[in-house]
Amino acid sequence: MYHASLIIKCMNITFRQLKVFESVARNLSFTQAAQELYLTQPAVSMQVKQLEEMVGLPLFEQLGKKIFLTRAGEEVFHYCRSIDQQLREFESVIEDLKGLKRGHLAISVASTANYLATRLLAAFAKENEGVSFSLDVTNRATLVQQLENNEKDLVIMGRPPEEMDLVTDAFMENPLVVIAAPDHPLTKRNNLSIKELKDETFVLREPGSGTRIAMERFFAEQGIQLHTGMEMTSNEAIKQAVEAGLGLGIVSIHTLPLELETKHLVVLKVKEFPILRHWYVVHRRGKRLSPVAEAFRRFVLERAGEYAVPISH
Ligand code: PGA
Repeated sequence: MYHASLIIKCMNITFRQLKVFESVARNLSFTQAAQELYLTQPAVSMQVKQLEEMVGLPLFEQLGKKIFLTRAGEEVFHYCRSIDQQLREFESVIEDLKGLKRGHLAISVASTANYLATRLLAAFAKENEGVSFSLDVTNRATLVQQLENNEKDLVIMGRPPEEMDLVTDAFMENPLVVIAAPDHPLTKRNNLSIKELKDETFVLREPGSGTRIAMERFFAEQGIQLHTGMEMTSNEAIKQAVEAGLGLGIVSIHTLPLELETKHLVVLKVKEFPILRHWYVVHRRGKRLSPVAEAFRRFVLERAGEYAVPISH
């Protein structure tokens, strides 16, 4: 009974209310949302208030000067994003039926693949004028969540989650290597074994990073307990920390071309390395890919090799 009446109320929610709410939730500010949408602040507050009345719960709470999403607000925010994605899918399917060759592509890539993904997007954009993009660069855990929520057209990642029903195509190798500062004593050694790294301190990526999961699994398989130092949330931060002498690091070789060329970092010659991984282009099985998304997927599978970052070390 309660459910039925909630659904009937929610059927009166308008796209406009969701759009206004989405902007307030993303900016965590009524003022910024008003500016973004060219509305007055009272108009924004009114739309959010009406939405809250229909949902039957507060969507924001104010602590001091800041506003935060409530638990209900987070749920509504999540659904707003997937409705937005559905609408974009709808738009590009209709455009395709009308024979229009344009559209929007929402892509998310693993931070290790960013270096390649931006080159791919630039090349694809050159050949497909009229296509606009949004690119989200994030870690594995967030990519998995985005796949679950059907928030993106395509995802580029290492090792897709096995428990989800996905279409996955491997398109390039993604070797993980051990890096050190150029003055690190181990850089002089030619044939290191992984056992010789057991007393070294490693700078790690955050939990949720695919690189970190691969690295931990690899060391566990080798029966080696890792000495872990600091934890950092990006490949760039890891590289800086290693260069500053805070320890060794493990990163994808594709993140390194500049540092290797300028000799700011060195890849250690460890027999058991690289850890061999692959990148995959991924989407949910059953998802209706827009024509632009399908064209980009094919582009990645057929032409990614042309845009790989040249590696020399
Ligand atoms: P990440 O990259 O370490 O940024 O999560 C994902 C991956 O390479 O699997």
